[in-house]
Amino acid sequence: MKLASMVSMAALVAIAFSVTAALAAENPILARQELMKANGKHAKMGVAMVKGEAPFDLAKAKEIFATFENAAAKMPDLFPADSKTGHDTTASPKIWENMADVKARFKKLGDDAKAAAASVKDLASFKTAFGAIGKDCGGCHKEYRIKKN
Ligand code: HEC
Repeated sequence: MKLASMVSMAALVAIAFSVTAALAAENPILARQELMKANGKHAKMGVAMVKGEAPFDLAKAKEIFATFENAAAKMPDLFPADSKTGHDTTASPKIWENMADVKARFKKLGDDAKAAAASVKDLASFKTAFGAIGKDCGGCHKEYRIKKN
């Protein structure tokens, strides 16, 4: 292989690795939506287990809580002042007026998800913990998301 093409391949690999970090730095709205989409996908998996549409799976349960914990840790840094509009954001302007409350809610979500990952053992304990976390999600959305049609 020619040196030039090896160099350009290395450059491509480097670009691929930096995309996630760049997304957060350059576009906090897209980064927020990525994290929240992952939450939504995992919440659906949880609901299916609660409803008995999918068998209870402890590894999946832990993955669900880890996803929520990861989002809760990253979200607080993704609301810079210049990210109030664009990319069909459903973030309410109220977020920027109540940042301390928003951050406290993410902290609670992270704490609850961490505790759940450690304590959940079976379907019964999953239902309780997952139900409580659902209130963290819904409570914040009710206050801080704009409803769009
Ligand atoms: C402290 C506030 C807060 C908490 C807690 C929270 N969210 Fe969100 N969520 C938001 C905000 C703000 C948006 C809008 C992001 C945007 O568009 O900029 C959002 C958007 C979403 C979306 C839509 C993503 C898209 O763009 O398609 C889903 C799905 C979602 N959240 C699921 C969840 C789930 C599941 C939980 C709980 C595990 C959760 N959220 C917890 C604030 C929160």
